[in-house]
Amino acid sequence: MGKPYIYNGVSWFDQNGDTVNAHGACLLKEDEKYYLFGEYKTDDVNKYIGFSCYSSDNLADWYFEGLALQPQNEGLLGPNRIGERPKMLKNHKTGMFVMLMHTDDLKYMDPCIGVATCDSIDGTFEFQGPLLFNGEPVRRWDMGTFVDEDGTAYLLLHEGDIYRLSDDYLTAVEKVAEKIAPGGESPAMFRHEENYFIMFSNKTSWERNDNYYLVAKDIHGPWKNQGLFCPEGSLTYNSQCSFVFTFEANGKNVPIYMGDRWSFPRQASSATQVWLPITVVGEKCLIPEFWPVWDSRSISNVSIGGLEESLEFQSNLSGESVSYQFNGSQVIVFGTSDCHSGYADFLIYDESGEVIHTAVVDFYSLVSDSNIRYVSPTFPAGNYMLKIMVTGTNGVWFKKDGTKFGSDDFYVTLQRVIVL
Ligand code: GAL
Repeated sequence: MGKPYIYNGVSWFDQNGDTVNAHGACLLKEDEKYYLFGEYKTDDVNKYIGFSCYSSDNLADWYFEGLALQPQNEGLLGPNRIGERPKMLKNHKTGMFVMLMHTDDLKYMDPCIGVATCDSIDGTFEFQGPLLFNGEPVRRWDMGTFVDEDGTAYLLLHEGDIYRLSDDYLTAVEKVAEKIAPGGESPAMFRHEENYFIMFSNKTSWERNDNYYLVAKDIHGPWKNQGLFCPEGSLTYNSQCSFVFTFEANGKNVPIYMGDRWSFPRQASSATQVWLPITVVGEKCLIPEFWPVWDSRSISNVSIGGLEESLEFQSNLSGESVSYQFNGSQVIVFGTSDCHSGYADFLIYDESGEVIHTAVVDFYSLVSDSNIRYVSPTFPAGNYMLKIMVTGTNGVWFKKDGTKFGSDDFYVTLQRVIVL
């Protein structure tokens, strides 16, 4: 097992060296193990191809367990449908694991919350159909879940509707709040002592924006808008909230923000996670600074040791590359992302010249950020060569109203490396 370090905004690799492909994710602890569930994305089309399940002992080394929910032959998660934001609940009364998710058509014109169940956390879930409220499907899109200390579970929806779920979590039985966040998406909730906090993003599709939060003493409200929880203009450290996991560390409950750094169209290869501890003071919550890497045991910022060398490179020409030879077991690359940048291919060769690892890194971000862009898997100590090549492709996407988002050029900008 490696160090329990969580690297933000870089691809994580599983036991096979493949990217951890779990987006719009949630995390659950069961029998001393962490389980991560998320959207299993592709690198080209946006359709549903399954929800993935990964397990970990330390939140750093991830084991791909397989697909928790397969694409269906027909229906809400059938061919050419959207499946997003799977959220997992453990029902202590029935012993069942219940998954709720957003289902839709490819144009996002047929939204519906779906339900799937399984009797084990790492088993194959069975799709049950739409989540019903008063006998009618809940036809909404961005969603999240929250379980209170007494086991009562809630469905959170875009714009800020909140529903209480039945005791078996399989239907919605009460609308407890309505439109508390007009224009809000990707809701995520947590409780800290007597306060409930709910986070939302704004509607900018895969683009990041400054997310905000509301606070209440009762889930029914009144809910008070408290503004941003990250520095203004950081676009939530280039991420969109998805889930808050309450982590028990040193006898304390620490809420951990889990957000997505999307990368359309190459979501499978290049979309990454941003996970950071939330500081709560009374009715306020904030993430005061971005930690590129932190220790999940002590919940503290980590500075990486190792041999540091300059690797300066900037190009927007497809096929141009830079190579770097190293002796060690891991390489970490620092570079700058901005709105003029694109994708880079990363390749690692062993001494015999064989490619032993490949990755695609997105250098796009609307607000510029100089930071860690790549952390290789750990290899047996030895001599390796890292090659980084400009692909001449970039992330571009369109909102429903036709607004174009994404990069306007193909730059790849590097500064330095650290070898461990
Ligand atoms: C976002 C939403 C994502 C996804 C995306 C599609 O606003 O939060 O989950 O649906 O739009 O454009």
